[in-house]
Amino acid sequence: MTLAIEARDVVKTYGVGDAATQVLRGVDFRVKKGEFVFLAGPSGSGKTTLLSILGCVLTPTSGDVSLLGTRVSGRKESELPGLRVAYLGFIFQGHNLIASLTAAQNIALQLELRGHSPREAMKEAESLLDRVGLGDRTHHKPGELSGGQRQRVSVARALAGGPPIILADEPTASLDAQAGLLVTEMLREMAKERGHSVVVVTHDNRIYHLADRVVQIEDGTITGESS
Ligand SMILES: Nc1ncnc2c1ncn2[C@@H]1O[C@H](COP(=O)(O)OP(=O)(O)OP(=O)(O)O)[C@@H](O)[C@H]1O
Ligand SMILES: [Mg+2]
Repeated sequence: MTLAIEARDVVKTYGVGDAATQVLRGVDFRVKKGEFVFLAGPSGSGKTTLLSILGCVLTPTSGDVSLLGTRVSGRKESELPGLRVAYLGFIFQGHNLIASLTAAQNIALQLELRGHSPREAMKEAESLLDRVGLGDRTHHKPGELSGGQRQRVSVARALAGGPPIILADEPTASLDAQAGLLVTEMLREMAKERGHSVVVVTHDNRIYHLADRVVQIEDGTITGESS
């Protein structure tokens, strides 16, 4: 069976010569299609670095990464944006929404990037906002929404256009317990419904019960997992 994500012996070194630091030391990491996986570990352990490599934002120093059976490591820098559009949706700690655009426009922009016409994109954006419980907030700008509402818009934007893989870097870090739980539950429910494979980086043990599997990383190495 084709895996959603297959990373083998991934090494990442930042800097060169005396300043070189090996931040990932031979990471093996797999995610099955439709799986909802958490990646947890101490600050500085390499979580964001690994997520950036899986997300075709950074290239590994060595090792192989495949998304849905397509090798994405060893590609030219200029090929990375195209791979991101084809395979990936992102959710960040700070919502990263565009402040001057409404919630619906933020999502529609993502859909236009994925080839929808402006009209289609707006219609789908409104339906996604409805799905995340923000049908009455489509014309609000990020500054006019609560933190939890902004993250729900971010979830809708990441899922817009149906990228097979969703990567989230500490999506609940800026939220209180209840809002964090609500956003993660919503992400899980929608991902399961639509067949997305998801990796969530988090140290938030209040939401661990929502994961199919929690993978631990320490000092650039996978040290264990629980399900
Ligand atoms: N661009 C960079 N250049 C040099 N070192 C870096 C760079 N980015 C990250 N690092 C180092 O790599 C290590 C891993 O960083 P990373 O951001 O992946 O950790 P993390 O697990 O996401 O931590 P946190 O939980 O604090 O977000 C850290 O020691 C960090 O200082
Ligand atoms: Mg990080």
